[in-house]
Amino acid sequence: MIISLYNIKGGVGKTSTCINLASTASKTKKVLIIDLDIQGASSYFFGKKPKKRGIFKKPIEKIIKKTNNPNIDIIPSDKQLIKYQGELKKLLNLKYDIIFIDAPATLNDLTKDILKYSDIVLSPVLPNILSLRTYNQLLETKLNKNIKLFVNAYENKPSHKQIVKAILKLPKSQYLKTYIPKSEKIENMPLYKMSVVDKYPYSLETKRYQKLLSELI
Ligand SMILES: Nc1ncnc2c1ncn2[C@@H]1O[C@H](COP(=O)(O)OP(=O)(O)OP(=O)(O)O)[C@@H](O)[C@H]1O
Ligand SMILES: [Mg+2]
Repeated sequence: MIISLYNIKGGVGKTSTCINLASTASKTKKVLIIDLDIQGASSYFFGKKPKKRGIFKKPIEKIIKKTNNPNIDIIPSDKQLIKYQGELKKLLNLKYDIIFIDAPATLNDLTKDILKYSDIVLSPVLPNILSLRTYNQLLETKLNKNIKLFVNAYENKPSHKQIVKAILKLPKSQYLKTYIPKSEKIENMPLYKMSVVDKYPYSLETKRYQKLLSELI
């Protein structure tokens, strides 16, 4: 199963969700993370620097890296992603239970293919009107039939409640019920280079990511 984290908007929680869902899934499943953002944020969490290798050109065995979690492998980000020439498909036939793709916040040939080949496009949406508007723009691309939003960085305040109310009016297939709260633990993940799920296994945040994943698979 291929789950991509994607939104046209930047800074909405794609990478943090990718890392936490991958950690959650790895408790019972063999997981591959493909970092297709040249910023290399997912790679950073596993101590991998973006290289200039041309990941679509090299033999697959050379680009898959092991991590210190035996159930998570990663294809780190690559500076040559910019020269994408339509070769994503061959990375997606690899034998894993779940492949998570950390996608960049752009709409170009690469992200169009990510949308095309994903079983589920999971789209974090911040609880504000402009984020919801961007989600609608994403739906309008019609590049995937299974684009699902979830609310990220939710706070218990009237403006956020208002957005959730609007989301609940959408067709059920377009959103997940689980939201992820705004959280200092999530914000501080890069400091520890660890998922919240691994650092705080009994936290509310970890339970939320488990719930989010269980809505997906
Ligand atoms: N639920 C949350 N609570 C608090 N902070 C969060 C939450 N989710 C994400 N953040 C913080 O918001 C920032 C953006 O998150 P993240 O890097 O996951 O977004 P992104 O969509 O991958 O961004 P980009 O488009 O740059 O790749 C980060 O500093 C992250 O720590
Ligand atoms: Mg990111």
